[in-house]
Amino acid sequence: MLNKIGLIGGGYIGGVLAQEIARRGLSREVGLSDPAPIVNPEDPPERQDVTKKQSVSIGKCLDISEGLPTIRSDVRLVGSKDYSAIAGSDLIINTAGIPRKARPDGTYPSREELLAVNLKVTNQVAEGIRQNCPDAIIISIANPLDAIVYTLDKRLNPPKNKLMGMAGQLDSGRYCYFVADAAKVSVENVNAIVLGGHGDTMVPVRSSCMIAGIPVSKFLDEEILSAIETRTRKAGGEVVGLLGFGSAFVSPAWAALDMAEAIVYDKRKILPTCAKLEGEYGVDGLFVGVPAILGKNGVEQVVELDLTDEEKEAFKHSVGAVRKTCDEVDEMLEKL
Ligand code: APR
Repeated sequence: MLNKIGLIGGGYIGGVLAQEIARRGLSREVGLSDPAPIVNPEDPPERQDVTKKQSVSIGKCLDISEGLPTIRSDVRLVGSKDYSAIAGSDLIINTAGIPRKARPDGTYPSREELLAVNLKVTNQVAEGIRQNCPDAIIISIANPLDAIVYTLDKRLNPPKNKLMGMAGQLDSGRYCYFVADAAKVSVENVNAIVLGGHGDTMVPVRSSCMIAGIPVSKFLDEEILSAIETRTRKAGGEVVGLLGFGSAFVSPAWAALDMAEAIVYDKRKILPTCAKLEGEYGVDGLFVGVPAILGKNGVEQVVELDLTDEEKEAFKHSVGAVRKTCDEVDEMLEKL
């Protein structure tokens, strides 16, 4: 058990994280920071006074705390609209961000506009971490994943073992689920890994996909596997399309908690992790999804896989996409 886990962002994923940490008893204390709801200066003063007193994070912490006697958990939960609630955290999980939604005039922000907004949020998040828990290990979930992790690294410059992104564990979970469903076997039997960036270029590694230690190709034919891999790359969008609001929030939270548990219990568990590469896989200075041993120090070691030529090519392509995003972030950060 850690002393304290800090959660930045108390929206859909942050809420699941807080309740699961309390239920699993991963830390003695949980700090949840979220500025919502933000006061709208155009609102009448009475409305502004009401909004000032409201707090998503304090409300969620109180709701969960009032359930603690029922689930027999003594975890202490604190919320704040600023970053004070995360003070002294050993581990931070970051989900802070602004989703793509229609403006009042019905138009949508462009990808670049949305990225600029989320980089601003990430600048604030980095400052909050720097002031309140500069030595914490950080798992970042917020999207666009590759851009946000890169920004946190630029702003905080932590030791490379202390900062990682969660994407591959979710993407691999999706891949495993689709394979288990198609092969009609337990999800417990399926093992697979997805490498690369968190986007259309991600690489579901078929050569790593095993059902009870047996290569997946013994169970499913080329056509089905290829369809599963395409579905995996688009799985986030599939959930968004069905929900009609926000994006997937339970599976990303569980995936991040798998990483958190590996760290909390010093499991030295190999999990797909967006980790900083310094020469591994022939990549230098970029955060890319790769298998890594997670333990009490965070990313203990990056594990290098033997890929087929085709997988190597796909990984290279994905790294290229991550590099392009980071170049774009560099340009935008200069203007912020
Ligand atoms: N500091 C802290 N929290 C912030 C900040 C900030 N500067 N700006 C916004 N937030 C909060 C919002 O108020 C909101 O409550 O971040 C929260 C994000 O929550 P949701 O919009 O509900 O999004 P969620 O579904 O939880 O996903 C969070 O993870 O998977 C990704 O794409 C997803 O980037 C998104 C993130």
